[in-house]
Amino acid sequence: MKIPFNKPLVLGSEIEYLKQVIGKDRFSEKGEFSNKCAQLLEKKTFCNKVIMTPSCTSALEMCALLCNIKPGDEVIMPSFTHPGTANPFVRAGAEIVWCDIKEDTKNIDENKIEPLITSKTKAIIVVHYGGVICRMDKITSICNKNHLFLIEDAAMSIGCRFKEKHAGSFGDLAVISFHKTKNVQCGEGGALLINNQNMIERAEFLRDYGTNRIHFKKGLVEKYTWIEKSSNFSMSELQAAFLYQQLLELKRINENRLRTWKLYYKLLSIFLDEEFLPCIPKDVKHNAHLFYLMLKNEEQRKELIIYLKSAGIQAFFHYVPLHSAPIWKGKYDDIHLPVTNKVSETLLRLPLYYSMQKEEVEYVMQMLQKSFSPSVLSSKAGIN
Ligand SMILES: Cc1ncc(COP(=O)(O)O)c(C=O)c1O
Repeated sequence: MKIPFNKPLVLGSEIEYLKQVIGKDRFSEKGEFSNKCAQLLEKKTFCNKVIMTPSCTSALEMCALLCNIKPGDEVIMPSFTHPGTANPFVRAGAEIVWCDIKEDTKNIDENKIEPLITSKTKAIIVVHYGGVICRMDKITSICNKNHLFLIEDAAMSIGCRFKEKHAGSFGDLAVISFHKTKNVQCGEGGALLINNQNMIERAEFLRDYGTNRIHFKKGLVEKYTWIEKSSNFSMSELQAAFLYQQLLELKRINENRLRTWKLYYKLLSIFLDEEFLPCIPKDVKHNAHLFYLMLKNEEQRKELIIYLKSAGIQAFFHYVPLHSAPIWKGKYDDIHLPVTNKVSETLLRLPLYYSMQKEEVEYVMQMLQKSFSPSVLSSKAGIN
C-alpha cells in the first residue's frame, strides 16, 4: 500500500464556480467570489473584516505594514514555525525575539512571554500549531497590559476555537493559509482577518497597491491616487471561486479529518503514553490539521522515517527552528530554547488527508506497531 503524506483536496464541485468565473470573463480583481469568501469567513469567525490575499505570507506582509514595523522594533514570536511567519517582520527591519514553546501543545509558552518584553517591543505573534489555539486569554491580557499589537498566525487553524471563540478573532490581526497542504485550499491563497477597527480602511488601501481606489469605487473621490508604499495583495477570482466551494463545505471537511485523527489517537494510545501523542486542551476545539507523535530522539525519528518509507508511507518532521537557520549565521547561537529544540528533533507527522480510509490508517498503525519492540510495548515509550 502507498500512503502519501498529504493529498491536496479537490471535491470536484469547485468546477461549477470556476466555470462561472471563466464565463463572466473576469479573472482578477476583488470580484464576486473573493467577496463571497471574505463574507463567509467574517460570518464564521465573527471578525470585523476579512481581506482575501494571494497567500498567507502576503497577509503577514500586510500585518507588518499595518503595525508600522520599522528598524529598531522588536517582535516576539516562537522559533518553532514556518519562515513565512517571520519573513515580513524581518524584511521590515524588526529584531525578532524568540520565545520558547510548551511541551504539551507545541504553542508559544504564554508564561515565557512577559520577561521578553522591552520598551522596543511592538508586537507579539502567536502560531496556533496544528490548529490547537494558544492560551489566548492570558496572551491577550499581556498584549493589552503592555499596549502591544497581537497577531495570530492561524495558517493551519480554520474552524478552530478556544473557549468557543474562533481562531483569528483574538488578535488585532490574524492570518489563514489556503495553501494546498491546508484543510481547505486553492493551491495558493490566504486571508487577513482584521479585528482592530482602526486598521480596516488602511488595510483596504494597502491591498490596492497603496491607493485609495476603494474610495473611488464608493464614489467618495473623483480619481483614485497613490497614498503609500504597498503592493498588490488581492486574491484572484479563479482561486477564490475554487476556495469558495471548499469554505462552504468546511464543517464536513473538518469532521472527516477529525474521524481520521481520532482513529489514529485511539489506535496509538494502545501502545503509547499520552505524552507521546498530541495534546488537545479541554477548552480547545481543533480541526485535525495534523497528527504527530513524539519520539525519544532524532536518531530514532530518522530510522522510523526510513522504515515507514520502505513500507510505502510518507512521514515527516516539522519546523527546523527559525533561530538556528543559516540566514542568521549564528546570531542566535546563545539563545536557549530547550523545548523548541527538543520538539524539532523528535516530532514526527503522520499522513492525514480528507477522506483517508480506515484501512489506510490501520496499515500505518500496523507498520508503526511492528517497529515498536515488545519491551517498548510494556514501557509504552520507544521504538526498535
Ligand atoms: C504557521 C505558518 N505560517 C505561515 C505559512 C505560510 O503560508 P503560505 O504558504 O500560505 O504563504 C505557513 C505555511 O505552511 C505556516 O505553516
